[in-house]
Amino acid sequence: MSWLTVRGFSELNHVVLYGVAAVPGDKSISHRALMLGGLAEGTGRIEGFLPSGDCLATMGCMRQLGVEIEHATAGSATTLIVHGRGLRGLKAPLAPLDCRRSGTTMRLLAGILAGQTFDSVLTGDPQLLRRPMRRITQPLSTMGARIEETDGHGPLVIHGQGKLHGSEHVLTVASAQVKSAILLGGLYADGPVTVQLPGPARDHTERMVAAQVEYPAGGPSPLTYDMCTARLDPARIRRLRPIDRVVPGDISSAAFLVAAALALPGSEVTIVGVGVNETRTGLLDVLVEMGALLTLEDRREQGGEPIADIRLRASAIRPAEIQGDTVVRMIDEFPILAVLATQAEGTTVVRDAAELRVKETDRIAMVAVELSKMGASIEPRPDGFVVKGPTQLTGGEVDSHGDHRLAMALAIAGLVAKGETTVLGAECIPDSFPGFVEALNSLGAELRHGI
Ligand code: S3P
Repeated sequence: MSWLTVRGFSELNHVVLYGVAAVPGDKSISHRALMLGGLAEGTGRIEGFLPSGDCLATMGCMRQLGVEIEHATAGSATTLIVHGRGLRGLKAPLAPLDCRRSGTTMRLLAGILAGQTFDSVLTGDPQLLRRPMRRITQPLSTMGARIEETDGHGPLVIHGQGKLHGSEHVLTVASAQVKSAILLGGLYADGPVTVQLPGPARDHTERMVAAQVEYPAGGPSPLTYDMCTARLDPARIRRLRPIDRVVPGDISSAAFLVAAALALPGSEVTIVGVGVNETRTGLLDVLVEMGALLTLEDRREQGGEPIADIRLRASAIRPAEIQGDTVVRMIDEFPILAVLATQAEGTTVVRDAAELRVKETDRIAMVAVELSKMGASIEPRPDGFVVKGPTQLTGGEVDSHGDHRLAMALAIAGLVAKGETTVLGAECIPDSFPGFVEALNSLGAELRHGI
C-alpha cells in the first residue's frame, strides 16, 4: 500500500498553482486504439497512448490474442506500433485474459470476443469482479453470444460463436461501454445492429470505427451515428484500415488540475492539448455556470477529435444543480466536482447520477464518507449528493478505497485544506493518470509519495 502526503494551507503557506501543464493521453481512446488497431488489417501507429494501469491491461489482453505491439522508440511508452491481424485474425488465448481493474477492458473486449471462433475467459481484480456485467452480457446474448457469468459478474467465460446476429437495442442506461460492446460485437453480426441510448454518451468508438472502416465506394458509411443512436451495417465493411491516431490529453485527468487551479486563490494555469469532445465536456459547462474563469483557447482538431488549451484563473465559485444529460457528459468527474462544491458559496445538488454507485467504488457513498472526514458537509442521496459550502476543509487521513479518481480528488481536497493530508491507497492513481503528482508539483504544489 502506498500513500500520498499533500501539503495544504497554513499560516506560512498558501498553495498557488502557476504555469503550463499537459495531461497524458485519453484513457477511453487509448483502450479503443489498441483494440481497433489489433482488429485492423496492417501495421498502424498510436501517438500519445496513455500507459496507465487500465490501458496496459488492454495491451496485455491484445497481446495474448496474438496482436504484436511495439514501442516506436526504446524508452517511449506513448508511441506504439500495432500490427493489426484483421477482423478474423485474432488467436485463441492460452490463458484467461486479465483486465485488472479496468471495466472498459472487460466490457469492450467481451463484445469483440463474443464474435470470435474460439473460447476465452475475461477476469480481473476483485474490485472489477464486483462490477455489473449483465448490462453487456444481456444485449450480447440477444445477438446470439454465449457468455457465462456469475450472478451478473465476471469472470466472463465467452464461447465464441463466430457470427452474431443483427439486432436492435434500446438501452436504459446511457453507457458508452455498453454501446461500444454492442457495436464491436456488431462487427461480427450477420445484419445491421442499432443502439439507442437515453442520453449522449461518449462517441469515441463511433468516431474511430468510422475513420478506419473501408467500404465499397459510392455507398454510405457502414456506421452512422448521432448523439444518442448508432447503426452499424457489417455487411458493408470490407476491412478496418490500420490505426493511425494521435490521442488527445484526457479531459477526465485535466479535471483535477482544473479544479485545483480554480480553488486555490491566485492560481493561473493553462492545460494544453486537452480533448474537448462535446460528449465529455459536461464538467466545463457546469464550471462556467459556477462562475469559473475558464476559457478554451486555440480550438483545433487532432486525430479526429476536437482539442483545445484550457486557460484557468482562480475563481469565486457558485453552487450548481447538475442533472439529466449533463451527468453522462461528466460521469467520471463527480468526485472532483464534490471537492469543488465544498468551496462554493451555497448548496450544490447532483441528481440522476445513480450510475456513480457502480464505478470503481460506490462513488456516492465513498466521496461522502471521505470528504466528511475532512469536515465537508456532504449528504449522499440514492442518485447523487448534496454539498453545502463553503467549508474550510481540514487535512487528515483519508482513503482511496482503491479508486483512482477518488484518490486524486482527495489529494486536491488536501491542497485546499488546512494542514497536511495523507491519502492512503495512492497506488491506484496510475490506473488513469500516471504523472499526477509530478504535474501538480510542476505547477507549485507539494505532494509526496510514500511507500
Ligand atoms: C468509459 C465510459 C464510462 C466511464 C468510464 C470509461 C468508456 O463508463 O465511466 O470511465 O471508455 O467507454 P460507462 O459507459 O459505463 O458510463
